[in-house]
Amino acid sequence: MNYRHIYHAGNFADVAKHVGLAYCLDALKRKESPFFALDTHAGRGFYDLQAPEAQKTGEAQRGVQRLIETAFGEPALAAYFAAVGARRGKRLSRYPGSPGLIASSLRPQDRAGFAESMPAEARAAQRELTSAGRIRVVADDGYALLKASLPPAERRGLVLIDPPYESLEEFKTLTQAFADAYRRWPTGIYLLWYPIRSAMQRGMVHERFEALRIPKMLYADLAVHPDDAGLGLAGSGLLIVNPPFGADLHLRHAYQAIHRHLAAPEAGYVDVARLTPER
Ligand SMILES: C[S@@+](CC[C@H](N)C(=O)[O-])C[C@H]1O[C@@H](n2cnc3c(N)ncnc32)[C@H](O)[C@@H]1O
Repeated sequence: MNYRHIYHAGNFADVAKHVGLAYCLDALKRKESPFFALDTHAGRGFYDLQAPEAQKTGEAQRGVQRLIETAFGEPALAAYFAAVGARRGKRLSRYPGSPGLIASSLRPQDRAGFAESMPAEARAAQRELTSAGRIRVVADDGYALLKASLPPAERRGLVLIDPPYESLEEFKTLTQAFADAYRRWPTGIYLLWYPIRSAMQRGMVHERFEALRIPKMLYADLAVHPDDAGLGLAGSGLLIVNPPFGADLHLRHAYQAIHRHLAAPEAGYVDVARLTPER
């Protein structure tokens, strides 16, 4: 397995995913009662956007850095900018990965678990994450941690499943692991990230999720390149199960803002809608 997230940290897909994650974390914090967050494919806590790997691809430059330059006034992105620590007119040197965002959202009563299979990445997360809540990082398979952790004692919280999709089997593994997790904890918020390469592949992803016959599924898709343009990803997809109130509208507005500022001319789209009904 060769995937290293430092090449992609802060790109448009990271922004799209983290907009959704930040919204769900903020929603959980509206109540005092403790919550649990589980990040099955955590990566490291923070990414140095000046590192040669990040500079080499320029993905953060065309993603979060461009948004900071051109979209700082967009109200729909204010919560995201606050969550990643962006400041008007300032380049971001340290970009929080999902563990960074989760750890900084925890209150003393909250708890989070992170799994990362690459030992060096897991060690970096262990070293760099600080939190008011309790955190645990394991250098292990995220699907195993998912099995071992649900349902959480807190009975409220979220699960992020964000694999690198290096293997053709990954989507199948993810849907099976999610279906099993949902059986054990049907009231948790689940965020499942998927790549968008073409309209046909996106349609298949939606069909597979729909076939699970699980209610309250929201999909939030953002494409910034034409299908199969040979530019890597065309778009970013996020399935949110049991989305917090207001997520549909928030994600639609935030993604429209991202699309206005980052999409190639005449390319891409925003599509945010319910995949399955309330019950
Ligand atoms: C897309 S990156 C995660 C990015 C991170 N969630 C974020 O939003 O900042 C996927 C990560 O999963 C790790 N990984 C791959 N297979 C894994 C597995 N079976 N269990 C846990 N981590 C895994 C990779 O090493 C990589 O760091």
